[in-house]
Amino acid sequence: MDKFRIQGGVPLEGEIAVGGAKNSALPALAACLLTSDPVTLRRIPPVRDIGTMQQLLQHAGADLEVADGSVTVRAARLDHPEAPYDLVKTMRASSLVLGPLVARTGRARVSMPGGCAIGARPINLHVAALEQLGAEIQHSHGYVEARAPHGLKGALVHFDRITVTGTEDVLMAAVLAEGETVIHNAAREPEVQDLALLLNKMGACVEGAGTSTIRVQGVAALHGTEHTIIADRIEAGTFLIAGAITRGDLVVSGFVPEHVYALTAKLRQAGVDITAAGEGALRVRAASRLRATDITTEEFPGFATDLQAQYMALITLAEGISFISETIFENRFMHTQELARMGATIRVEGRQAIVAGVTELTGAQVIASDLRASASLVLAGLVAHGETLVDRVYHIDRGYEKIEEKLARAGARIERII
Ligand code: EPU
Repeated sequence: MDKFRIQGGVPLEGEIAVGGAKNSALPALAACLLTSDPVTLRRIPPVRDIGTMQQLLQHAGADLEVADGSVTVRAARLDHPEAPYDLVKTMRASSLVLGPLVARTGRARVSMPGGCAIGARPINLHVAALEQLGAEIQHSHGYVEARAPHGLKGALVHFDRITVTGTEDVLMAAVLAEGETVIHNAAREPEVQDLALLLNKMGACVEGAGTSTIRVQGVAALHGTEHTIIADRIEAGTFLIAGAITRGDLVVSGFVPEHVYALTAKLRQAGVDITAAGEGALRVRAASRLRATDITTEEFPGFATDLQAQYMALITLAEGISFISETIFENRFMHTQELARMGATIRVEGRQAIVAGVTELTGAQVIASDLRASASLVLAGLVAHGETLVDRVYHIDRGYEKIEEKLARAGARIERII
């Protein structure tokens, strides 16, 4: 199993460019199932979860051409509209094919995702929303089976709680449903907006994406198009924190700074200097010790749960006590025990972590438990005294494109050991 070996203590300098957003590319690939025409997607990040989604599309019957950051999907025939357990168990976002498959073929069979390191993560809200659109749903042998032999019908869909992939799933179903669908309490994430943009380029009629009410006028069929995926705001945020935690002078480029406002506001409060560095780029500098700063994770535009672990790594070294509240997932503090092995002082009480800042972290052998937790351990390793070995980095490969090479180009002493 691959590991990262990191020698801490080098301030990061230079520039790191951000890649395409995994969480935008995943629904975009699923959306390609909605038409028999070819759809070309650019800026597809070559990370493991994308490989899994591509296998799902191929399993369903689509042909894929992958070339240098772009993918062309032709879903002319979908003989197997299903997502098998073997693929779903490695990536929960597989449930994103449920909506498009039932809308396009009138049937879909998707394995129920099992447990997950960060929380239960059920898909009951996806299922209830598709039922509102007229899909008949049955649960059998660990699978959700959806049928709509006479097509879906537009409806009012109210989400009991905000769900990102749930919103995306029902949005993809609604574009081919008959009549109007209104989605209330929709997720407002930039990835939902990017999906709506792609769907409209394919001939759909979606309004209001990026707000909590999305209106869709169903159309009979969609057509092919080309689309470039937005930049990965979580990768951008991770590198901004990398610059700050190493007290470096780093430019992070190729993304939309507005997408990380909740993070940059907190970094500034903590004492990090952040300035614009041209279009789509921020320069991050941190000369002295940071101040304790509390965060509460929220849906967009609040502080992203996908940056909570990385932010915690940073704040373990701040002066004073910081409170970190995780409101999105019930078990997203697995990194605290590993950070504690590196000298951090953290107490977890339910959904809150209380971090008492220390002056130094020390290198240790640590184990990555999920994607963002692994990123936090890498960040801690970059600043820790001595050597850190991060085990199970396959978690990080699910969502970051060669993170060790990008960090090394900015001066980090990090290498992959196979
Ligand atoms: N939830 C339900 N029922 C559902 C759906 C969600 O109870 O049917 C609950 C979840 O258990 C969770 C909350 O609602 O407690 C919000 O979950 P959401 O559905 O918004 O999460 P998701 O769509 O499964 C996406 C990202 C995650 C990110 C979350 C929150 C993708 C592919 N995944 O997951 O990204 O953490 O939104 O922003 O877009 C990551 O990239 O590391 C990652 C986990």
